[in-house]
Amino acid sequence: MRVYLNDGLVPLKEARISVLDHGFLYGDGIYETMRVYGGVVFMLEEHLKRLQRSAAFIGLTLPKGPGEMKASIYETIEANHEKEAYLRLTVSRGAGAIGLDPELCARPTYIVFAEKLKPYPQGFYENGIKLHITAVRRNLKEAVNPQIKSLNFLNNILARIEAKKAGADEALMLNHEGLLAEGTVSNIFFVNGEGALCTPRVDCGILDGITRGVLLDIAGRLHINTMEGRFTPADLYSAREVFIASTIMEAMPVGKVDGAVFKVGETAKLLAAEYRKEVDAYTENTRAAGPSIWGEGE
Ligand code: PDD
Repeated sequence: MRVYLNDGLVPLKEARISVLDHGFLYGDGIYETMRVYGGVVFMLEEHLKRLQRSAAFIGLTLPKGPGEMKASIYETIEANHEKEAYLRLTVSRGAGAIGLDPELCARPTYIVFAEKLKPYPQGFYENGIKLHITAVRRNLKEAVNPQIKSLNFLNNILARIEAKKAGADEALMLNHEGLLAEGTVSNIFFVNGEGALCTPRVDCGILDGITRGVLLDIAGRLHINTMEGRFTPADLYSAREVFIASTIMEAMPVGKVDGAVFKVGETAKLLAAEYRKEVDAYTENTRAAGPSIWGEGE
């Protein structure tokens, strides 16, 4: 594997960062996970915009502009010959003396790597996965806003540990008010008794997932009623169907939320199929646009 580290590609063995990197010491940094389909990064612009927003939230100046980032991303994909891949772009505060002051770090550390996609088991899509509502609450947005896609993932890791102990595949976190928030790496959706597609509002304290946005757009185009709201676990338990979504998993049905059982529903199936069509159209358009995917001149 070849990794893009700061200024260019290096073999994985040589891709080393300092023990004084504040990303390592304090979780001071941000990242994006993207999915590569047939050599094309789906929703690249949106991921880079969200990265810029995360950077602004933490007062970090990105070391590269959007064009340079796109070029580094596609260089990494080509160098690794991975057409179906998990791609991660990480920017940390960089190496600096001990201390919390970001000014101690002269230059951010910039890393891109892509590895062959390891898809979730097919059974997860056919039968639905198990969710566990954790006692671990989602970070308060006034503390570490979940809209920052930050390197500090302990909140999610603690929830995941609890879910794993409960025999579940993914955790579902509530916010400090006891309202539905999100999974550890996913957003939550459900279809209510009236057939409306419901998902927590961003101000419930969640990451506004890019997949979430694509699915809401698709539902709108299909004239499915959508509701971004403040929902309780009781709303979820009375749902007709439940699913979660992320860049890597796309739309994945939920078969169980703790003791409550759900059927893999028609809405989830329909949206998953439409999502794939959206991916196909996007990859075709991107290929047709040719070298502009490299983002020269930006
Ligand atoms: N996870 N919520 C959280 C807490 C996440 O970490 C993610 C993404 C999502 C879904 O966002 P998107 O649709 O933009 O992927 C929601 C990625 C996959 C990860 O951490 O690797």
